[in-house]
Amino acid sequence: MRKKIVAGNWKMNTLLKDGMELAKAVEKLEKEKSSDALVIVAPPYTHLSRVKELIQGVKLSAQNCASEESGAFTGEVSPDMLKSVGVEYVILGHSERRAYYGEDNLLLNKKTKLALAKGLKPIFCCGEVLEEREGGKLYDVITEQISVGLKDLSKEDMAQVVIAYEPVWAIGTGVVASPEQAQEMHKFIRDLLVKLFDEEVASNTTILYGGSCKPSNAAELFANPDVDGGLIGGASLKAEDFLGIVNAY
Ligand code: PGA
Repeated sequence: MRKKIVAGNWKMNTLLKDGMELAKAVEKLEKEKSSDALVIVAPPYTHLSRVKELIQGVKLSAQNCASEESGAFTGEVSPDMLKSVGVEYVILGHSERRAYYGEDNLLLNKKTKLALAKGLKPIFCCGEVLEEREGGKLYDVITEQISVGLKDLSKEDMAQVVIAYEPVWAIGTGVVASPEQAQEMHKFIRDLLVKLFDEEVASNTTILYGGSCKPSNAAELFANPDVDGGLIGGASLKAEDFLGIVNAY
């Protein structure tokens, strides 16, 4: 059985004090949750070690990591550093990293392999922009992102990987994919995993939906057989909304 997960990507939001308050509130509500989904928060780097001290049931993720192990890479944060402060997951390939920081599929493959080698669990993001969807290129784009991004991973590696499908046109826009659009792409991704790996990997891989997910639309998205939870941006910045999404399961 694959895990259900709801992960909150705080992006570049909250100062330390607010972030700590938010983490405390999420931890408190997580204890009372009515769903069996695993709850993850991904605060900014600066908050990770402090947030770690405030959470138990909630798991900790980073939003990115370096593609190199250590050394002269000014401004980068390595997977070992993240592990050393108790981080378990790392979001890789978010569309904002791809679009604003030029992260391509080859670099993301390198980051994914390094993160796995260091014992972090990647939340690997993929998604098409609107022109790609409208131009009928969406399946090619997703195929390329996943087959290059997850290239040369073993079945054991894949047991640690979570995939997040985040149509770029739905991120932070208030426009959410319809349950049918989400299910269609999640099924496509699962079928792709059969081709790239095997049936077992495909059926055990958690595939999250991301993009304008809210308490009001989460239940119908999560009701789809191939949608195993969500990667939440804006709505993860309020503990009640975030746990409202978790409880929609
Ligand atoms: P959003 O962001 O929920 O604010 O649309 C989702 C994401 O970027 O992970």
